[in-house]
Amino acid sequence: MSDRIIESLTNPTVKAVRALHMKKSREETGRFLSEGLKFVGEALDLGFSPRILMVGRDARPHPLLERAMAETRNAGGEVIRVTHDILAKVSRKENPQAVVAVFEQRFADLEALKPETAPCWVALEDVRDPGNLGAIIRTADAAGCGAVILVGDCTDPFSVEAVRATMGSVFAVPLVRCTREAFLAWLQTWPGISVGARLDGAVHYRQAAYQAPTLVVMGNEAQGLSPEAAAACELGVKIPMRGRADSLNLAVATGIMIYAVTDTLES
Ligand SMILES: C[S@@+](CC[C@H](N)C(=O)[O-])C[C@H]1O[C@@H](n2cnc3c(N)ncnc32)[C@H](O)[C@@H]1O
Repeated sequence: MSDRIIESLTNPTVKAVRALHMKKSREETGRFLSEGLKFVGEALDLGFSPRILMVGRDARPHPLLERAMAETRNAGGEVIRVTHDILAKVSRKENPQAVVAVFEQRFADLEALKPETAPCWVALEDVRDPGNLGAIIRTADAAGCGAVILVGDCTDPFSVEAVRATMGSVFAVPLVRCTREAFLAWLQTWPGISVGARLDGAVHYRQAAYQAPTLVVMGNEAQGLSPEAAAACELGVKIPMRGRADSLNLAVATGIMIYAVTDTLES
């Protein structure tokens, strides 16, 4: 099948791709949107190929673009040549990237995780800010964490804002979603140590007896850890607050915790 060309801003495919900015449409289709060739390169390396690859008519030739178009076609996806105005419309940006891609969402099952395969795992309770979630997924990827587990009422990891903040790590880190009840039941079977990060933690985050695998459990931006999750963790650790700020940003605190665990276990 030859590539399609779309020039009309009211084309149904253009509307459907733009609609992926909305949660309802992502839930209905199981798809999500990413912008830029770098994301597509990460995705292809990790076995995701676009269902739709929109390429600006003025996109400069690039070997990665050639590869992306070939792999999209080979995997049964659609390559569509579009105008700058269409890219701006689907990206909701005046200066869009030359490539916009639509992928299938993937979630892993809690029960399918293999704790022995990574030293550090991350669980987030009710994380609300997509920028925080994207930054945490990126940090979990950088540090070699096994998965990011989204517990309870979390923001969508496949929203455009969260995906952007992952800088491509959304394809690299397994993501799990579950209810608090399912998480607490699964935590009973966790073979390593579970560590809740909390302002009233009894142990300094650098002095905790981390063991592989360590599960780091982080609380919601406003409420902190729920009493149930805090009680279910073997250890409660705190990062010292030496100035006037009463807490750290969730993504910053998670980054500090992840590297404290992975550096300790590596040394
Ligand atoms: C912005 S804080 C939540 C603050 C909230 N008012 C509370 O009472 O916990 C979000 C999450 O980041 C982690 N966090 C932030 N600062 C921390 C610190 N100094 N020590 C340990 N964890 C911290 C905790 O997991 C917390 O639930």
